[in-house]
Amino acid sequence: MEEENLLVPNIQNNEEERSEFSLRPKTLNEYIGQNKVKENMKVYIEAAKKRGEPLDHVLLYGPPGLGKTTLANIIAMEMNSNIRITSGPAIEKPGDLAALLTNLSPNDVLFIDEIHRLNRSVEEILYPALEDYNLDIIIGKGPSARSIRLDLPKFTLVGATTRAGSLTTPLRDRFGIVSRLELYSDEQLKTIVKRSAEILNIKIDETGALEIAKRSRGTPRIANRLLKRVRDYALVLSDGNITKDIADIALQKLEIDQMGLDNIDRKILESIIINYAGGPVGIETLASTIGEEVETIEDVYEPYLMQKGFIGRTPRGRVVLPKAYEHLNMQQ
Ligand code: ADE
Repeated sequence: MEEENLLVPNIQNNEEERSEFSLRPKTLNEYIGQNKVKENMKVYIEAAKKRGEPLDHVLLYGPPGLGKTTLANIIAMEMNSNIRITSGPAIEKPGDLAALLTNLSPNDVLFIDEIHRLNRSVEEILYPALEDYNLDIIIGKGPSARSIRLDLPKFTLVGATTRAGSLTTPLRDRFGIVSRLELYSDEQLKTIVKRSAEILNIKIDETGALEIAKRSRGTPRIANRLLKRVRDYALVLSDGNITKDIADIALQKLEIDQMGLDNIDRKILESIIINYAGGPVGIETLASTIGEEVETIEDVYEPYLMQKGFIGRTPRGRVVLPKAYEHLNMQQ
């Protein structure tokens, strides 16, 4: 038997990650949706290649699950560069960032997920690295401390965040390309579901794909996850083929309603209606009432509830809109 190294995380060992990895498009042409971002990115990449320079630094922002990591990988691939992947919270000290930066090769992509969570001392040494490809590091302590400057290879930083508003202005200003990812349309998600089904050898008809798409809250990661769960129901309840009826039965069992809302979405809406007479209610108050983090409500739940016209934001807090009462069958 092949020996397993338990200390080195091995992506191949994790079924979920492995299949998510295989579903990810590898090129911009394979990537479905986000058409504006894609078209702009094609131009920037081609121009950078023609100049023989690295791509300008890129900031990708938007709700989770829309493909920020996927896009970062594609950017590296299209630039024929290597990618190094890390995240804001993983870079604890300036030395951690220095180690990453000094190990890059020219034109490499450094991907920092959750870049809004970088700590301040790390962020400060990132500025000259982004601007002039310089790294200022301090050696020693007290009166004998000296600062030395290292030249870095010309690299591209791709930063991703769910909350662009949490980035400091100096960091935000150092990205030449800032792209906002949008929730996907039902048609785009349907295409993604069909593509994933083909890769995973799942039989699904048009109506089945559309049903999953409509109930995936505009998010490919959710669509792919639901596809796998619906496949299980199709196999146990029927002949393994996913139709609209099978998808509907499966999604009902998963407590995902006709509009794609889950229990927490409904809890948010019902709590505003029942406890706060439909609002306005402050986000902190709402979060503690339902026992969720403010960040989770703002980043994960609200974008879809707002897109569907279920929730509105006012200066005095969140309000539930008439469509939500209708959907939940509640009196206004
Ligand atoms: N799988 C997940 N997201 C995708 C996308 N945007 N295009 C194609 N396949 C995907």
